[in-house]
Amino acid sequence: MKLSKRNALLFMAVICAAVICWAHQGACAEEAVIKLSDPQYTRGKLLMEALKERKTSRAFSGKELSDELLSNLLWAAAGVNRPDSGKRTAPTAVNWQEIDIYVALKSGLYLYDAPSHSLKPVLAKDIRESVGMQPFVKEAPVGLIFVADFAKMAGAYQPSDEDKKFYSATDTGYISQNVYLFCASEGLATVALGMVDRPSLAAIMKLRPEQRIILSQPVGYPKGEK
Ligand SMILES: Cc1cc2nc3c(=O)[nH]c(=O)nc-3n(C[C@H](O)[C@H](O)[C@H](O)COP(=O)(O)O)c2cc1C
Repeated sequence: MKLSKRNALLFMAVICAAVICWAHQGACAEEAVIKLSDPQYTRGKLLMEALKERKTSRAFSGKELSDELLSNLLWAAAGVNRPDSGKRTAPTAVNWQEIDIYVALKSGLYLYDAPSHSLKPVLAKDIRESVGMQPFVKEAPVGLIFVADFAKMAGAYQPSDEDKKFYSATDTGYISQNVYLFCASEGLATVALGMVDRPSLAAIMKLRPEQRIILSQPVGYPKGEK
């Protein structure tokens, strides 16, 4: 069979794309950005009730969160609550917004993009078992990983590396508490995890050196819920 010049070029392009996908170890398998549904601002418990019920739980059912619940969870964690300024549900020092939320799901690893309220695919691989060092982490359907991007902590005020660690840990605390309160409001289980194998997880996530894993936080239904 004789290939025309155009078909030969097309064939070469397909081969090149396949080689690039292979080189990125499966990242091409899940290309599409996932647009999350609009957050539901009027549901949930009263703040005082949620505070009363906020707690750490380490036993998860494998039941998946609905798309709506995942959307609400991420918006509550650090979504944009003032579109005119782009500011978020959690404060950050100097409004650096340096904490990225990575979302580990069965279908792969995603980056939460707050301005577009969507999930950007990062890896087409289930990395939930690496989100923490305790065995329950793989049971939770959602593993949130809070990653500080030190490169974003710049501008008129240039903090030292010591200050970057202090501010990014503080800023993560607000996000983690938003997640705790959202979970209390929705009857979900969650636990903030400092015990994380950071070098190994950073390698799995292919993070840049200026990106630092601060905490992770699995979220799911309490064990026993089907
Ligand atoms: C920064 C931070 C790190 C934590 N790290 C872990 C952890 O690695 N593993 C764990 O099982 N619990 C961890 N926890 C959960 C605490 O043990 C828990 O918050 C504490 O026992 C108080 O319980 P409560 O959250 O129900 O009030 C962490 C909590 C925080 C705030």
